[in-house]
Amino acid sequence: QPPDSQMEDTSLLGRENCRSKGGAPGFKVAILGASGGIGQPLALLMKMNPLVSVLHLYDVVNTPGVTADISHMDTGAVVRGFLGQPQLESALTGMDLVIIPAGVPRKPGMTRDDLFKINAGIVRTLCEGIAKCCPNAIVNLISNPVNSTVPIAAEVFKQAGTYDPKRLLGVTTLDVVRANTFVAEVLGIDPREVNVPVVGGHAGVTILPLLSQVNPPCSFTTEEIRYLTDRIQNGGTEVVEAKAGAGSATLSMAYAAAKFADACLHGLRGDAGIVECSFVASQVTELPFFATKVRLGRRGVEEIFPLGPLNEFERAGLEKAKKELAGSIHKGVCFIKK
Ligand code: NAD
Ligand code: LMR
Repeated sequence: QPPDSQMEDTSLLGRENCRSKGGAPGFKVAILGASGGIGQPLALLMKMNPLVSVLHLYDVVNTPGVTADISHMDTGAVVRGFLGQPQLESALTGMDLVIIPAGVPRKPGMTRDDLFKINAGIVRTLCEGIAKCCPNAIVNLISNPVNSTVPIAAEVFKQAGTYDPKRLLGVTTLDVVRANTFVAEVLGIDPREVNVPVVGGHAGVTILPLLSQVNPPCSFTTEEIRYLTDRIQNGGTEVVEAKAGAGSATLSMAYAAAKFADACLHGLRGDAGIVECSFVASQVTELPFFATKVRLGRRGVEEIFPLGPLNEFERAGLEKAKKELAGSIHKGVCFIKK
């Protein structure tokens, strides 16, 4: 019978230390919401990451099965499962990186903000656990609405006295992944050769692709700019509608989350030049949080890059994005302060 909690089977065999001592220094990573549509493929991808030595899978349902399954992969990380609130603290203790895809996804017709009611409370509880058990961990927050859940997490950490803005990162990588894909399609080139900065936040008009700053440098017609901006801003809705009630992006999101987590781990390891877009505490605009390119390092966000030169279309988009973002950030802060 598979163990139904903490999955101590590998360590009971006494070989865990040998495995982690053998290779390069590894990091301890927890996924909260590990049984979900994002959580499962993300767990698989993190189990394949050579920088991960220990992988903790926490959810309120189904972690015994997911853990048993993932733990059979012949990669380095030791996998343990944790089920339900009483095991949250064990799941979090000692973690270097905590990735949070816990919470409900959208159905057609819903906005990300419609998820606030349920997901705000889930994120609060999980962040209280982080503040208590691994206050120095880097946190990658995926649960929507990201524009509000990141401010919620910040307020929880402030109340606990553990807040370090360098270590709290909202995951907006899927917007960049989509932008790279759609731009590459238009240009007729390999998406792996494209890098599109996407700034602002992670919902509708707050998703602001900077098509004037695409690397490699290129130019677009007005029609292409309108098409690309609209497709990137509504990429999430495109998937929600295609899934027709069965949830939102999970596979591309797991890919994006694994890519971002890998960048955070390379930063933690001390690698140079690790730059990703992320929704973080920021002074780039007058808003307290904003997504831009950031440099990742041993302490998390080591440097926040400015927006760079914007064209008229992007300046107009920025104003719209800031207006909506201000409300979403305020809503998140008030949820904890009240
Ligand atoms: P899902 O319903 O398939 O999975 C969510 C998981 O969270 C479930 O396994 C559920 O049991 C678990 N969960 C619920 N309450 C929990 C709690 N208190 N503690 C731990 N786990 C809990 O949903 P999904 O498709 O995986 O999406 C998860 C979230 O990610 C949604 O809010 C979605 O909107 C968001 N999302 C964000 C992005 C992004 O770019 N940031 C992209 C896609 C989805
Ligand atoms: C996405 O961009 O795919 C996610 O934020 C999920 C959603 O609700 O669109």
